[in-house]
Amino acid sequence: MAKYRIALMPGDGIGNDVMDAAKIVLDKLALDAEYVNTDIGWEFWCKEGEPLPVRTISTLKECDCALFAAITSKPKEEAARELAPELQDKGLVYRSPIVRLRQVFDLYTNLRPCKAFKGNPLNYRDDIDLVVFRENTQGLYSGVEFHPLPEELRGVLDILSPNMTAFQGIASADIALSTRIFTRQGCQRIVRRAFEYAKQFGYSSVTLVEKPNVIRETSGLMVREARKIAAEYPGIELWETNVDAMAMWLIKNPQNYGVLVSSNMFGDIISDLAAQLVGGLGFAASGNIGDNFAVFEPTHGSAPKYAGQYKVNPTAMILATKLMLDWLGETEMGTRLEQAVARTIAEGKVCTYDMGGNSGTLEMAQAIADRL
Ligand code: IPM
Ligand code: MG
Repeated sequence: MAKYRIALMPGDGIGNDVMDAAKIVLDKLALDAEYVNTDIGWEFWCKEGEPLPVRTISTLKECDCALFAAITSKPKEEAARELAPELQDKGLVYRSPIVRLRQVFDLYTNLRPCKAFKGNPLNYRDDIDLVVFRENTQGLYSGVEFHPLPEELRGVLDILSPNMTAFQGIASADIALSTRIFTRQGCQRIVRRAFEYAKQFGYSSVTLVEKPNVIRETSGLMVREARKIAAEYPGIELWETNVDAMAMWLIKNPQNYGVLVSSNMFGDIISDLAAQLVGGLGFAASGNIGDNFAVFEPTHGSAPKYAGQYKVNPTAMILATKLMLDWLGETEMGTRLEQAVARTIAEGKVCTYDMGGNSGTLEMAQAIADRL
């Protein structure tokens, strides 16, 4: 029996292209694993009305972790139009499978390292080493949303919040509400993960990215909990910033920051910004990590226009594989893989179109594998 059982979720769009690239490096590393292919993505939404079939969730429960590539997601009405004719008008609503996976498996940490590899022509600077900890299950992604605003909810809000007077006279049909739910435990656990990481890898500060001056209750709770947790880590300073200012500071002085921690939506935005500083989404990997299970993915989307062309940069997917190796405890392999990526980029001979080269996805993966 293999040491690990790993689910592969290529998804769609360029998902297959980059998953093939990941397999090249995994085969070269000879990780002792059995790989299980699973059904997920746009195809299953159109055919079955479910982009994340129940059978896939069952398979995942029998695996140690999963590698996920990319999935197309479209707004509600557009998604409904692409359903098979027999599934139309049944009230099926498309929900992003990756967001659901994060919630179903309680993968509350989204770890997003953004490190500048020397020699990458796309780097903003060469001395950037940022790690974003994004809360991954709550906040604006909780899925507690309404349109129109139900009358009973409106009645309660009118009684409880004086600020509802701003909406007086507006029909409930014309009001949409998306809730931003934070829990104390949810704030504590993501902040703790960020501090633990800072401690393990020797960072002297953790920067909290929120907006408590305006979003008083949710961001406020996160700040209060972060202060308590920071007190448990004497050598590590807590820097509190507002998300808007942070976007500016990250462009101005990215080299001054290390570990960042934020809620779901702000973390989503800030991590794309951080990714661009080190070459864009072709270099950005994520770990969706819970207490017993994890899903690793490139941060980029499915880029349908490049699907099957084996043209896109596989580095993000390969770095996601590195995060998986580290999480499994195969840190020696993880380190070797990152060094092989660094060497390939530094040599600059094999590069994909985004880096100004003309190597394909698999050539780049092979170049990395050759340097392992
Ligand atoms: C990400 C993506 C997803 C998110 C989308 C595809 C639902 O942007 O992983 O950052 O918003 O979390
Ligand atoms: Mg995103």
